[in-house]
Amino acid sequence: MNKVIVSLLLTLGITGMAHAAGDAKAGQAKAAVCGACHGPDGNSAAPNFPKLAGQGERYLLKQMKDIKAGNRTVLEMTGLLTNVSDQDMADIAAYFSSQKGSVGAADPKVVARGEALFRGGKLDQGMPACTGCHAPDGSGNPTAGFPHLGGQHAQYVAKQLTDFREGNRTNDGDTMVMRSIAAKLSNKDIEAVSSYIQGLH
Ligand code: HEC
Ligand code: HEC
Repeated sequence: MNKVIVSLLLTLGITGMAHAAGDAKAGQAKAAVCGACHGPDGNSAAPNFPKLAGQGERYLLKQMKDIKAGNRTVLEMTGLLTNVSDQDMADIAAYFSSQKGSVGAADPKVVARGEALFRGGKLDQGMPACTGCHAPDGSGNPTAGFPHLGGQHAQYVAKQLTDFREGNRTNDGDTMVMRSIAAKLSNKDIEAVSSYIQGLH
């Protein structure tokens, strides 16, 4: 069986765990400090700060826990989550998830290459299409914890893909699902698919 499909099945299997339900209303006040970078409603202005608005609750909670535990390095957030409890994180995740994500624009010069990669992958190299997990409209799979990508800042997306490829982001599980996909992407591929994602909705 294709390695990536095996990864997908394993990822789906381990994401079946239950988590504390978040309260979006309680989360709004707790998210105030986060708004300085991520935007009060989770739509950040700066292209290196990810938008959190409309992102899946499960994915947001996992990233917060990974950042807090040091399994994903975010220097800008050093110490910020130290005194934030699991319930607080669940509430904050529920708040940002309930907000509407904004959408940007794709660069027309690279959009065709970006779309071909996003929708078709590189089947000759065993790299599946992004749509398989992140959905054709980029909305992801909230239940499985596959992140929403549509409308995300291209600069942030490009940094993540590069970080996965170079081994600087390693919190995609033992199956290395994103690291194995990013390994097949050139710098030009990353630029194109990230630009396409920024305009996707
Ligand atoms: C000083 C700026 C700053 C503040 C304040 C901040 N963050 Fe972040 N955050 C970042 C940056 C920068 C990244 C992305 C780092 C990278 O490139 O991997 C990030 C990433 C994240 C991610 C991962 C998003 C994704 O799509 O994977 C989550 C979740 C997150 N932050 C939540 C929070 C929460 C919750 C707070 C408040 C408790 C907060 N952040 C406060 C700068 C900040
Ligand atoms: C087999 C499923 C699968 C496929 C196919 C897939 N991804 Fe992912 N992707 C994931 C999962 C799962 C994560 C979250 C990893 C984690 O928990 O940190 C992720 C995370 C990401 C992130 C980080 C999002 C953020 O907010 O930080 C980006 C960017 C991304 N994928 C882009 C892509 C692109 C581009 C493609 C196609 C070239 C692709 N993915 C194909 C499963 C997949």
